[in-house]
Amino acid sequence: MCGIVGVIGNKEAYNQVIAGLKLMEYRGYDSSGVATVFDGATHVRKSAGKISCLEDLLKNKPFSNSSEVAIGHTRWATHGEPIEKNAHPHQSTKCTVVHNGIIENYLDIRKNLQQKGITFSSDTDSETVPALITSFINNGLSPLEAVQKATKELKGAYALGIVFDDTNDTLIATRKAAPLVIGVGNGTNYIASDPMAIAAFTNKFIFLENNDIAVLTKDNITIYKPNGETVTRQTQILDMSGAMAGKAGYRHFMLKEMHEQPAVISETLQAYLNDNHTAPKMPEMPFNLAKVPHITLIACGTAFYAAMVTKNWIEEYAKIPVTIDVASEFRYRKAPMINGGLCIFVSQSGETADTLAALHYARSQNQHILSVVNSPNSSIARDSDVVLHTKAGQEIAVASTKAFTTQLALFALLSIEIAKLKGELTNNEVKELTHTLTELPAKLLSALDLSDAMEDMARKIMHANSAIYIGRGSLFTIALEGALKLKEISYIHAEGFAAGEMKHGPIALIDEGVPVITLAPYNDMFEKTISNMKEAEARRAQSILITDEKGAKELTDNKNRTVIVMPLVSDILQPIMFTLPVQMLSYHVAVLKGTDVDQPRNLAKSVTVE
Ligand code: AGP
Repeated sequence: MCGIVGVIGNKEAYNQVIAGLKLMEYRGYDSSGVATVFDGATHVRKSAGKISCLEDLLKNKPFSNSSEVAIGHTRWATHGEPIEKNAHPHQSTKCTVVHNGIIENYLDIRKNLQQKGITFSSDTDSETVPALITSFINNGLSPLEAVQKATKELKGAYALGIVFDDTNDTLIATRKAAPLVIGVGNGTNYIASDPMAIAAFTNKFIFLENNDIAVLTKDNITIYKPNGETVTRQTQILDMSGAMAGKAGYRHFMLKEMHEQPAVISETLQAYLNDNHTAPKMPEMPFNLAKVPHITLIACGTAFYAAMVTKNWIEEYAKIPVTIDVASEFRYRKAPMINGGLCIFVSQSGETADTLAALHYARSQNQHILSVVNSPNSSIARDSDVVLHTKAGQEIAVASTKAFTTQLALFALLSIEIAKLKGELTNNEVKELTHTLTELPAKLLSALDLSDAMEDMARKIMHANSAIYIGRGSLFTIALEGALKLKEISYIHAEGFAAGEMKHGPIALIDEGVPVITLAPYNDMFEKTISNMKEAEARRAQSILITDEKGAKELTDNKNRTVIVMPLVSDILQPIMFTLPVQMLSYHVAVLKGTDVDQPRNLAKSVTVE
């Protein structure tokens, strides 16, 4: 996902911009650049590769003067290769722009401008923005009027930072369906895609609404609505102190965040339990949870897997039918929805474009909207009727770990709450299930000791061309999550299957040495899953079984397989508990393979474009 930073009012403006861009490196990018205005012109330096390449460039070709205004950008390529000419900022003759999002009608705009003699130097959609704004300035409009007129022509998603050649005391920012926040400083003001990028400079933030246009000077911030009226947006004080506490001695953010899981799951549980921890306690909701006729859960990627597990819990405990779908499909398939149903959106970042668009579709279908997010001021949170925040804290690694398990912990409580309100669970059953959940953090803490065993297991599969994960029930979902983790950070192809599905085709994949990771805690599907594991072993798969103490005791054969024994937990905890070993396995394989664990190739932490 691209990152934007802008500074106005500080003579170290472009250095602050670069410092802010560095704090967003975790989002994933492939080029970067910075622009600053002095001597009646805008000066740009940009480079493919990491920000260190940009810094080297600035050492060799420093700006010839200082300036109090600068904008910068880290680009995750959508249109045009990740090479210097496509890096931002993009210039035209009167202004320079950094952009996050996608301009869907850029080809039309580009063609119209080319017919007026304007030339382009990149393959990007973003370059049409400064060219369009310049064309209106050339027609006599002021910078603000030109931005107002240009943005009315843009279709798609954008967050923009704009500087102008002839005014080094103004910075304009605007957004639509892509995140952008203003940082309110003391004699200096800021813009950023993520508050964390500028948290070192201020703790006062203004979150722009869609189509707001903000004009920033060093001492003033004026926000305009599309019709030109000024509007006041709330200034919020955010405590971002923990945001970038660094790796705290861990080798990677992912390792740190895996180890944070017991603590942040405990914090998340505490936030949604009653005082004596005998039942869930959810915030007031503008609808009756017990009366919703249908529940739909929508998300992407790992967050979708949290939706899959939650479907099983709500249907089992609350007896409400649940539909689940990935947002990129749901937003377009015109699903008929039961009037007054509840739609739940799951998103760590709260900015995933497909999930946000799916939310807007659900809103149009008269659904109640509840979101589970880890980013409280995100677009998805702001567009929901009710928001439940996971207390995972800032998740920096692209591969989601603690955000996922805190989503599951929260959803387990929500499922129990709905069942309680519907009378599907007695008070005693509620108390027992709730108590079970409060035992999870300690059980997870003990499971972290398995890291060495998982590293040994990683050595066994690190050279495989592909890996297969199998499980049943919610462990099928964790098989999918385990496969996604391995794919996204070690680049080994992996697939998760419902264990019962192997005989319907996938078992053809089994050949000598193909790793098959079986997730089989001791429950009512243990025997069946073990049978599926043995069918793979009979075809000489490299068999890895992840079970618990009870399951290990049930195994009487001394077949040559690797067995990882997890702490014994109740059924409701099993999907959360068995997530840890598949996270650790993927982490160790990635480290052994030397991939970029925290910022895997081609990936972004939050996909704010389609
Ligand atoms: C998971 O490890 C990935 N980072 C990815 O699948 C992620 O879960 C997905 O993009 C959804 O992101 P969100 O939770 O921020 O919406």
